[in-house]
Amino acid sequence: MERRVIPSTGEMLPVIGCGTYLGFDVSIGSAGYHRLPGVLAALFSAGGTVLDSSPMYGRAEDVVGKLLTSRDRERAFLATKVWTRGRTAGIAQMERSLELMGTDRIDLMQVHNLVDWRIHLDTLAGWKRDDRARYVGVTHYTSSAFADLAAVMETSALDFVQLNYSLDDRAAETRLLKLAQDRGIAILVNRPFGGGLLIRSLVREKLPDFAASIGCESWSQLLLTFILAHPAVTCVIPGTGNPSHMADDVKVGAAIHPDARDRILKWWSAR
Ligand SMILES: NC(=O)c1ccc[n+]([C@@H]2O[C@H](COP(=O)([O-])OP(=O)(O)OC[C@H]3O[C@@H](n4cnc5c(N)ncnc54)[C@H](OP(=O)(O)O)[C@@H]3O)[C@@H](O)[C@H]2O)c1
Repeated sequence: MERRVIPSTGEMLPVIGCGTYLGFDVSIGSAGYHRLPGVLAALFSAGGTVLDSSPMYGRAEDVVGKLLTSRDRERAFLATKVWTRGRTAGIAQMERSLELMGTDRIDLMQVHNLVDWRIHLDTLAGWKRDDRARYVGVTHYTSSAFADLAAVMETSALDFVQLNYSLDDRAAETRLLKLAQDRGIAILVNRPFGGGLLIRSLVREKLPDFAASIGCESWSQLLLTFILAHPAVTCVIPGTGNPSHMADDVKVGAAIHPDARDRILKWWSAR
């Protein structure tokens, strides 16, 4: 899988990861739970490493912690979030996340939806010094928060920003993607399929003829290719609890055709 640089360190990160919202919020032992090793196998066997979770996603952090084999654990890039107010509550929640995910050190800790971000980023500066978190970041999921996100990106020491960007919601192109490049901040893209709405609206249609010429065999690959065709994007984290969907999504990570963005935009605007 293609890997892209994390600007703050030069470390390389595979371009397709897995989001755990909904798909990993399942009961231990349920049918959904038994499908998840297949999701992880599809991700890791293709060279992916990034798993994104949050205390907001119910049982997801616990499920990730329980399902990772020792081999997966060595290669995984584990990202989660802090989603509460106050320093003490934030520290307690982050400690709990590490415990659930079965690690002493998280790869990426993000402030979820900017909730109490000043306090948590201050705490996280200490966590980075103490090697409890390798990278820190902030997240949001809606363009109505992009002005706030930009203000934090302009004033804070961030390794990552996680934001929503998809073919039908390109607001991040206006300012944030360029700002991330200028400030040396890696970008994780959430909601690449519009939370599922976009892809579900497309799967009823025939894939356009040009898709094969840019290396796309499915709607998910076309939507992920569009996102990865933007040079500011470091990694995309489609959410899934379905092994065949994960196997479909990771196929995009091989190489992005140089004409992909123009071809997709031309087709999209003519629809
Ligand atoms: N504020 C935040 O920090 C924030 C907000 C939103 C999301 N996130 C993160 O970003 C991740 C992605 O966002 P999301 O999960 O909300 O939305 P998404 O990735 O845009 O869409 C997820 C939906 O796409 C479907 N899907 C995945 N691969 C597919 C494929 N190959 N073919 C057809 N359908 C496919 C999934 O269904 P199946 O499960 O059936 O595959 C699921 O219904 C989340 O899981 C989470 O980790 C963060």
